[in-house]
Amino acid sequence: MKILLIGDIFSMAGREMIDKHLENIKNTKGINFIIANGENIAHGNGITNNYYKFLLEHHINVVTLGNHSFANHDIFNFIDDAKNLIRPLNYPKGVPGKGFVTINYNNLKITIFQVMGRTFMNTSLDCPFETTENLLAKVNSDIYICDFHGEATSEKIAFAHHFDGRVNIIVGTHTHVQTNDAHILPKGTMYMTDLGMTGALDGVIGVEKETIIKRFITGLPVRHIPMETGRKQFNGLIVEINETNHKVTNFEIVNMIK
Ligand code: FE2
Repeated sequence: MKILLIGDIFSMAGREMIDKHLENIKNTKGINFIIANGENIAHGNGITNNYYKFLLEHHINVVTLGNHSFANHDIFNFIDDAKNLIRPLNYPKGVPGKGFVTINYNNLKITIFQVMGRTFMNTSLDCPFETTENLLAKVNSDIYICDFHGEATSEKIAFAHHFDGRVNIIVGTHTHVQTNDAHILPKGTMYMTDLGMTGALDGVIGVEKETIIKRFITGLPVRHIPMETGRKQFNGLIVEINETNHKVTNFEIVNMIK
């Protein structure tokens, strides 16, 4: 089976790329299952029920979130009913929503989960390593797929090596910059530090560049305005898994600029 993992879909530019190109990628590459990060889909910050439905209508099977999970207040109206929407599993107890989902596909049990890093993330979180150990002990699945939402490359790589051979696919999200390090780890885990972003190309990680340049030069706070015009990018990773032995057999990087 072929799984497509899509990097952070950012605002209207990101939605436009999904609308225009996902169906074609799905058909030409023979994709069976799609996971996408949607924490920036609503004006660059958070997700609404309508945009969650938009992703499902575009045949995305599971939507992951991140540090902006609760940035748009609409999330509180639907997160507990949204079957295929997950936020980081290592949020402390009492936070709405769930951190993993198990889906049956072709007699395979696939568990998709998300954890968030603790380095440079400024969020109060449980340990992503311990949280994942607990999940693996509790949930018995054929295939495990992890979206590690984090800033520090070292934290993501350390996590991937720790769970090499136990989690089939570990991909990073959050930085919005695709890394050139997709590879299969020694014990068989497919790993990539960051999938990249799906949205505007010529802004600063999705935002109008002028405001961000001003912030770096002056140190003054600025309002983030999503960049919606100009060239756009579609970033992600396609992973092929053998349905019998659950091993990763092949992968292909998606880095499309339009
Ligand atoms: Fe993020």
